[in-house]
Parts: sequence; structure tokens; C-alpha cells
Amino acid sequence: MATKKIFSGVQPSGNLHLGNYIGAIKNFVNLQNEGNECIFCVVDLHAITVKQDPKILKQNIRETAATFIASGINPKKSIIFNQSSVSAHSQASWLLSCVARMGWLNRMTQFKEKAGKDKEKASVGLYIYPVLMAADILLYDATHVPVGEDQKQHLELARDISKKFNTDFNAADFFKIPEPLIQKNFARIMSLKDGTKKMSKSDPSDLSRINLTDTENEIINKIKKAKTDTNPFPTSIDNLKSRPEIENLIGIYSSLSGTKIEDLLNKFKGQNFSLFKEDLSELLIKKISPISKEINKLNKDISFIDQVLKEGSEKANELSSKKIEDIKKKFGF
Ligand code: TYM
Repeated sequence: MATKKIFSGVQPSGNLHLGNYIGAIKNFVNLQNEGNECIFCVVDLHAITVKQDPKILKQNIRETAATFIASGINPKKSIIFNQSSVSAHSQASWLLSCVARMGWLNRMTQFKEKAGKDKEKASVGLYIYPVLMAADILLYDATHVPVGEDQKQHLELARDISKKFNTDFNAADFFKIPEPLIQKNFARIMSLKDGTKKMSKSDPSDLSRINLTDTENEIINKIKKAKTDTNPFPTSIDNLKSRPEIENLIGIYSSLSGTKIEDLLNKFKGQNFSLFKEDLSELLIKKISPISKEINKLNKDISFIDQVLKEGSEKANELSSKKIEDIKKKFGF
């Protein structure tokens, strides 16, 4: 099978959680281990689209790189770097913002959600952030982009920008048309408090998410307090549709254990939720605690993380510098 060229990014905005892990990072590791050519980016330029404390941002950049490594991304096999250390990203973003159309950006639902009611006060960066994301991907001729469901629309925009550039400059195949890799199941992990809302780092309630740095006791406590209902454990998949919190917990269990939903329904049918929750906590501790311990260890080894980022940035610079020159030439520069 031909190897894929993989690019993906994660924002260093703190509190990386189970949604980031199941929706994205776990798949990064699988794609790397299948022998694909992989580039994983700590997208610090994306993070500053909302206000950041510079000192905390610096820690979060290192912690995101540490999370990649603790989850199984091997810096000897994959490139790990932070976006701001490779200037081609900002340059390509400007150039592509002159190709992208206002109408396309106006359709982006994530901007509408993040900007909220007062969109006049949102940064311009937050509005054009999907163009920077397209630049990230297109600079490396990535063929496949593993992301969670919430990034699907941004990926479609990257494809539209790529096609329009190739047409406008009469340069078929200059940019690849990247394929999204979004899992069929569990591509959107929901809040533990409200099954209709995405699990998110920006949710003010820490009880809404399992952070990848949570202790065993925190995991047990959060699962104990996770919203369920007073009805018995569901017996059929149809029965899950109207019970989003239960569907989410069962989805998390199924994804982490590799057990089919039907088998889980059979295993726990007729029981109350406490037994299922105990099992789920145990599974989460088995899967997440080793990662969390490794993150804590790596967080103390600043020089190692800085070295990984430095080497990754050198490689990324090398790969992107020719492409950015080619893009500039197309414009006539
Ligand atoms: P970010 O930092 O918000 O999220 C990182 C990855 O985690 C996924 N994710 C989830 N998946 C399932 N359930 C959830 N509750 C959940 N929350 C987050 C996201 O889909 C994402 O894959 N703009 C991107 C980062 C980015 C990028 C790129 C991605 C920048 N450039 C180029 C791919 C290619 C973002 O803000 O992701």
C-alpha cells in the first residue's frame, strides 16, 4: 500500500482532553505506526486568535509536544514542531487569504460559535484561522489529514482553496487536494455534563472533560459525576439515540477498548449505571494514566522537548521552504 503524507495540528491552549485523544491523537499514532510519512504540528499561531498569556502559552506549547510523545508519537519517525518557528506558515496564510473568498469564510460554523454574539469584537485572526489551517496542510503537499468531526468544514475549505489556486494559476496538481481522515464512529466526543455539547478545553466546568493530565482519583470522580439518567442500561442501539450522554459514555468505552457497541449493550443490560461507570473508570485509568504520567515526566525535561521541537522545526523548514518559494513565483514575486 502506498504511504500517505499525513499532516495534522493541535492547538496549545492547555487542557488537552479525551476528545483530542480519541478524535485525533490516537489516530496520529496509528498512522505513524502504519509507516506513513507524518508531520504533527503544535499550532501556536492558531492559539493566539484568542488572548493568551505569553508565559503560559510557552508552557502549553511544550506540554502539547510532550502529549504527542507521551501518546506514542515517536520524534524519530514523525516530525513534531511548532508552527510559529516555521515562517512559511504565516507567509502562505497571507498568500492564500488572497485566494479564499469572503463568502466561504462567512459559512464557517466554528467562527460563529467561537465569536458568539459579539462577533465585532472577535479578532480578525479568529475569522481567517481556517486559511492558516489550509496553509499548514498545503505547504507540505499533505495527502491525508486526520482530525475530529469538528474540523470537517475547515478541511473542505482547504480543498476549495487548493482547487481555486490550481485553477486561477493554471497549475493543475500544484497543490494536492487533501483527504480528511475522520473516523466513522467517535469522531465527536461529547461533554460529560451535556451530551449535546462537544467535549472542549474551553468549557468552564472541568467536570465536563477528562484531561489527559488527570489523576486516577480525578478520573474516578468525573465518571461518577458524569450525567446519566434514571432509566435502565439501554438494550439496543436505537435506544441510544434519545440518550446522548449514555451514547457518549458507551462510545468512549467502545473506542478505548475496541469492543463493539452491541457487545457492550449485552454485557451491561439490565444493570444499573454504577457498575458500567466503575468499569469505564478502570478502563480510562488503564489507557490514560500511563500517558498522564509520561506527560508529567516530560514536562520536567524541558531541554529534551525543546530539542525535539528544534529538530522538528529544522526539518519542517527544509520541507516548506521550496514550496513557499514556488507559491510566491506563481503570484509573480
Ligand atoms: P483543536 O486544537 O481544537 O483540536 C485538535 C484535534 O482534536 C479534535 N477534537 C475532537 N475530536 C473529537 N471529539 C472532541 N470533543 C474533540 N475536540 C477536539 C479536533 O477535531 C482536532 O483534530 N484548527 C485545528 C488545528 C489545526 C489543524 C491544522 C488540524 C491547525 N492546522 C491542519 C489539521 C490540519 C484545531 O483548532 O484543533
